[in-house]
Order: sequence, then C-alpha cells, then structure tokens
Amino acid sequence: MSSIKFYKHEQIPVEMHKVKIVQKLNLLETDERLKKMQEAGFNTFKLHNGDIFLDMLTDSGVNAMSDNMQSAMLRADDAYAGSETFYRMQEKLTEIFGMKYCLPAHQGRACENILATRFVKPGNCVIMNYHFTTAKAHITRLGGRVEELVKDEGLVSKSNLPFKGNIDLEKLEECIKKETPENVPYIRIESGTNLIGGQPISYENMKSATDIAKKYGILTVLDASLLQDNLYFIKVREEKLKNKSIREITRMIADLFDIVYFSGRKFGFARGGAIMVRDEELFHSMEDLVPMFEGFLTYGGMSVKEMEAMTVGFDESMDMDVISQGPEFIEYCVKRLDEYGVPVITPGGGLGAHLDASQICSHIPQEEYPAGALVCALYLCGGIRGMERGTLSEERNPDGSERFASMELVRLAFPRRVFTLSQTEYVIDRVKWVFDHRDLIGGLKFVHEPKTLRFFTGILEPTSNWPEKLVKAYKKEFGNQ
Ligand SMILES: Cc1ncc(COP(=O)(O)O)c(C=O)c1O
Repeated sequence: MSSIKFYKHEQIPVEMHKVKIVQKLNLLETDERLKKMQEAGFNTFKLHNGDIFLDMLTDSGVNAMSDNMQSAMLRADDAYAGSETFYRMQEKLTEIFGMKYCLPAHQGRACENILATRFVKPGNCVIMNYHFTTAKAHITRLGGRVEELVKDEGLVSKSNLPFKGNIDLEKLEECIKKETPENVPYIRIESGTNLIGGQPISYENMKSATDIAKKYGILTVLDASLLQDNLYFIKVREEKLKNKSIREITRMIADLFDIVYFSGRKFGFARGGAIMVRDEELFHSMEDLVPMFEGFLTYGGMSVKEMEAMTVGFDESMDMDVISQGPEFIEYCVKRLDEYGVPVITPGGGLGAHLDASQICSHIPQEEYPAGALVCALYLCGGIRGMERGTLSEERNPDGSERFASMELVRLAFPRRVFTLSQTEYVIDRVKWVFDHRDLIGGLKFVHEPKTLRFFTGILEPTSNWPEKLVKAYKKEFGNQ
C-alpha cells in the first residue's frame, strides 16, 4: 500500500482490495446509546453488535474474508477423523513455519490451555516479554506465575522506538538464574504485544532471547497470533532484514522456537487456532490433550469450513499488500490524533490505535478504571466500541488489592479490510471531541466482579451521573445523532 505514490494529494494509505459484500451499519440516537450502555453494565463486551456503529473492540474473528477464502470453504472435507481439510491446513503451516506437527485447537486460548496444562506446575515461573490475559490466566490457574520482562522503553507511551515489544535480555538472564532453569517451564515471546499497544519485537531480539533460553535448556514458545503485524514492522523497520521476503522472515523466526502457537481468529483471518511443533516427542507429550479439551486431532474443535478458509488466510498473511493494511491505517489514525494533541501510543503499532487513558483521564484515580470510563465515553459519543486494556483487564492480587496495570489504554482495533478511511476520519473526529470534553468523564466501580478475566463479564456503574452530563454536552454539539 505504501508503495502507491500520490501526485497532488497528501500521502494516504490505499486499500489493495475492493469491497464485494457489505453489512449495513446502525447509528443509534444518543439517548438510546446511553440506555444501551446502562443495560450493558458499562462494559463494552456486553453491548449488542446491532447497537454499535463502528465495532473496534477487537480484530479477533472479525477480519473480512477474501473471495479466495470464501470459495475454499466449499471444498471442506467433513470427517470426525482424517479430514483432508486438516492435512491441507497442516501442510500449509509446515510450509510456512517449517514445523512438521500440528495440534489443532478451537482458538488461541485453547492452545494456551494445552501448553499450560502440560508444562506448568505450582510455583513455576513463565517468563514473557509481556503477558496476554488468557495466556496468564491459564498459567495462574495451575499455580504458576508470570514474569514480564519487556524493556522499560516499551511502557513509555510517546516514543519513536521501532521495537517496543523487545524483551530485556539482561533481566531475562538474571531472572532465569534467580528462578533456576528447572523452575521455568518455558519462555513465551509474544509477537505484536497485545496489551502494550500492539508493539512489535525485532528478529534480533527474538534471536538473542531464544539463544539465552537454549543456553539454559529452557523451552521456547512463540505466540504468533499477531505475527502478521510484527512481520510487516520487521520488514519496514529492521534494516538487516529489509531485503528478505515475508516468507523468509517468518521461517527465520520459526526456526528460533521449539513451539509456535496462534489464534486463527487473527493469524489466518478466520476462526481457529493451532500449536506447531518440530520435535516428535514434544508433539506426543501434548497430543492427548487435544481430544480431551478440543476434539479429535484432525479438527480440534474447529469447523472444517473455517480450516479451509484459514489455510488460504495463512498464505494471505504472507502477502505484504494484505498485512500492510492494518498497520498503515493505524499509523494514519495515530498521526492525526497526535497532531490533535490527543495522547496516543506512538509509534503506531499493529492491532489498533491505542489511546493513553492515564493522560486523557488523569483526573480519574486508577482504582476507578480511567480506561474503562473512556471506552464507555466513546460509545456514548459516537457509537464507537473500543476495548479497555488497563487495570480492569488485570486480575486482583491474591490479597484482594487491585493490581494496577503498567499502562491504561483504550484500544481501537482495526479489523483487517473492514473499515474505510472515511470511517477512520469519523473515529478521529469523535475521539478529538471526547478529548476536548474529558473533564466531564468520571470513574467506574464494580457492581458484580468475577474473580477471573473480570473484564469480559463484569458489571459496573458510574461513580456519579457523569454519563448523563457527557451526553447532554454531546447533544448540544451534535443533536441526538
Ligand atoms: C497475542 C494473543 N494471544 C492469544 C490470544 C487468544 O486468542 P483467542 O482470542 O483466539 O483465544 C489473543 C487474542 O486476542 C492474542 O491477541
């Protein structure tokens, strides 16, 4: 996309696809949105899709499929055991990652369940550049702990560093020595770190981290769910690899790891997941868990139609024209918000544009969930659904106290090939309005607080009547639109 140059117009991203099927959108009136937010317990996960104008909650399972993906679904081979669809999918994954064995699972967290169930014992410590909610929940469920060693610069919101997902190599070695290698079942490296702004990790850093792990005989695991964004950033930002193809870079990365797993709702643009393994013994050590939790070894809980679509999606994830669309739209959105003075994570990462709620809502104490409140404000003022990625997305400490997140972010995800640039402009416009009226936003408190992954199902309420006041100001500007 970035290779298309303009003559008179300023440089903007150009889509390398055309729209063939559309879905009508619905923009509720402002008063209606307030009612829906109240009914949803001030939790954007509980809104109905039909009540949302632009759904930027996630890119998970909501990316647009291509014509080739859709047509591949027609040849799906349904069989409880031995489906030809599975063998086609396995062959494609082996071609891409160079790993022979494939354990299918219904989505990314199911892979995390299998890995944690097989390897994590009470008291173990899993080291990561940064955690992902479900990856951590499975580890702690089994009595393990997580140590996050992303470099300090990864948690600075405004920066121009190209690889803010890099792990601190000195801390990694110190941590292994302190824990002892026997107590570290695996080191998990997350490409395109979800919770800290979709920031990439460099190939060089992955190589050094896995070299250290190998020195101490520790298993290495790559979470490749957001690999496609990370591949784009390596290609455009890592000087030494700029002449390598996306396929070559993917293979070089996979060669560093013992295990690669992914959510097919992201990597592959469909709905599913898999664990790829090179070593036969390692494969056999996890094999029995697939039929137990997922389904037989040749479908793993997935629909064969989705597997066929995903197999085409893997190839599309190797195409620079396809994988550049997300990061370039995000970069556009982030730059425009930055010009407006809205605190955003820079440089733009993958997955989505990330608003820095700790700055935007600095008047809201962290225990009243500033990012949770800001995400509600965006729905009230424009019908845009984002996701809280801050303290609400954390779990409490064992003593019941809040575990404050390192960053308080609102993620506005850009599902691939879904939104147009004019819709992106609308989002920028409404974020700017909310930013200019940020003093009207107040805090949230729990009414019903689940113990695990509380952000999915928790019910909250505002700490004052701030939503009514905000809506009143919005209506003064835009009417009941
Ligand atoms: C980095 C990362 N890992 C794992 C997962 C879990 O995948 P799934 O939602 O398919 O369970 C996600 C989902 O958002 C993710 O972003």
